[in-house]
Amino acid sequence: DETETKNFVINDRVKNIFKLRDDFSHKGTYGKVMIVGGSYGKIGAAALATKSALKTGAGLTFTLAPKCGYEILQTSNPEAMFIEGGKDFVNDFKVEEGTVYGIGPGLGTNDETVNNFLKFLKDYSKSLILDADALNIISQDKKNLKLIPKKSIITPHPKEFERLFGTTKNSFERLELAKKQSKELEIYIVLKDHHTQIITPEGNVFYNITGNSGLAKGGSGDVLTGILTSFLAQHYTEEESAILGVWFHGRAAEFAAEKYSKESMLPTDVINEFGSVFTELN
Ligand code: APR
Ligand code: MG
Repeated sequence: DETETKNFVINDRVKNIFKLRDDFSHKGTYGKVMIVGGSYGKIGAAALATKSALKTGAGLTFTLAPKCGYEILQTSNPEAMFIEGGKDFVNDFKVEEGTVYGIGPGLGTNDETVNNFLKFLKDYSKSLILDADALNIISQDKKNLKLIPKKSIITPHPKEFERLFGTTKNSFERLELAKKQSKELEIYIVLKDHHTQIITPEGNVFYNITGNSGLAKGGSGDVLTGILTSFLAQHYTEEESAILGVWFHGRAAEFAAEKYSKESMLPTDVINEFGSVFTELN
């Protein structure tokens, strides 16, 4: 079935995926997001993912984070609700019905976080977004890979991909390995890079061409996690969320670079350009 796989370049495809906001809607129409992450010194990662989810149109957004992040999170994102999940790191991955989880930004890999995150995964079966330290925790033991709920979207950068699935000689081999793992685990792999690739369980590969080197800064990945979680909560399918989300992230970076330059633009500036991208799509 190697021959059945197809390659696509994401571009005008997003116009067909994007749904206009309904006049007769309410916050319940646009889903509930649960960003899980942050630890002492890395609360900013959870704050960025949360802001990103809010600014992509989610109906209700929660941040499940440690107590040390309470004031930071409530001040940086007054529209989001705080759920306490520990003291200096998350050790209680509360299950909140009807929310879509985006787990990993700034999470850390404290032993308690590791144990309780793996327990959470064992009992959880809905698709979710996994990034950063959530992936690093899974990487600690190959057996953990099977705990990833089917249809989930994982967003490794090349180093995280290598930790999860092993080393490859070049990017061609890496893509083949990603296809194999995506099919076996029935998950969507967003392989982040200059040209991010989205690999689907059916073996299709979507190449993204938006974005620029202004994204090569800490925090850019956290912004993507917020976008993906928000679109999945807004009832886009996993495949649609991945395609629209990755494209959207890069496009916002293009607007930010125009205004601030690739050097100066920050992940926060990228979030503040979301409005320009929506205006273009609307
Ligand atoms: N061109 C286009 N896009 C780029 C480029 C580039 N030159 N460089 C980076 N990007 C994009 C990637 O495609 C991806 O979407 O920016 C994002 C970077 O994501 P990450 O590598 O996850 O970076 P980061 O925000 O620092 O991650 C936050 O999570 O992965 C951990 O160790 C990491 O602690 C850090 C945290
Ligand atoms: Mg990252």
